[in-house]
Amino acid sequence: MAQIIDGKKISQQIKDELREQVAELKANGKEIGMAVIQVGSDPASSVYVGNKKKACAYIGIRSESYELPEETTEEELLALIERLNKDERIHGILVQLPVPAHIHEKKVIEAISPKKDVDGFHPQSVGALSIGQKGFVSCTPAGIIQLLKRSGVEIEGKECVVIGRSNIVGKPMAMLLLRENGTVTVTHSKTKNLKEVCKRADILIAAVGRPKMIDASYVKEGAVVIDVGIHRNENNKLCGDVDFDSVEPIASAITPVPGGVGPMTIAMLMHNCVESAVMFDE
Ligand code: GUN
Repeated sequence: MAQIIDGKKISQQIKDELREQVAELKANGKEIGMAVIQVGSDPASSVYVGNKKKACAYIGIRSESYELPEETTEEELLALIERLNKDERIHGILVQLPVPAHIHEKKVIEAISPKKDVDGFHPQSVGALSIGQKGFVSCTPAGIIQLLKRSGVEIEGKECVVIGRSNIVGKPMAMLLLRENGTVTVTHSKTKNLKEVCKRADILIAAVGRPKMIDASYVKEGAVVIDVGIHRNENNKLCGDVDFDSVEPIASAITPVPGGVGPMTIAMLMHNCVESAVMFDE
């Protein structure tokens, strides 16, 4: 029987801590602002953006919403970002991805000032993380570190295996685990003997993008298993990259889907926005 790592509860704790901090800042005359930009009306993106705005409202961050039409040009979007970069009332700029195909994602990410890059996607933020300098950290991996720490899981000296090497999750995850003195292996689609490598893990982070791929045959008895995946199965039920029913009996701790990693991403986005206001304003 594994300990179930409750991301809903832990993300709520973080949001409540931030809410207090924001109230204190407000009492001292400081208001925090976040710009949330969506180009087009992809329904999944609209849900994510709505949740981000709701979280801002809960915590006491003023959110400015920019819902731009699908036909918005790259120049128009970059001009808006440029204006927000200069706006002192805005501490975080979030452009919901993906952007429409006629807009270069890379240009958008690089246009956001690293001082307002609350997603942690700017090359400067990524570089800062890899050399241990101050900067924003991608929200999902940052949230996973919080899940581990707040559940009493020690990282130092542990064998940590990350499955997946995306810029948003796998790579920053590896850097963060390394920063916590874990011994880190990053695996991917070309990794040989994936099962054997995963079976070495004390902490296994699954960010593969394939529903229920990681079953008990990948997991060492007593391992901590973190599931980053989120998929809808044929019955419209949510599931992760981990086959929960197979793995739960042998893991020492495991995150569920939903209610594990998912809620942490927004909590850490809020954390980054508050940090931005504290870090870069005098
Ligand atoms: N689209 C899917 N996830 C994310 C995220 O974390 N940030 C942004 N900006 N877009 C996303």
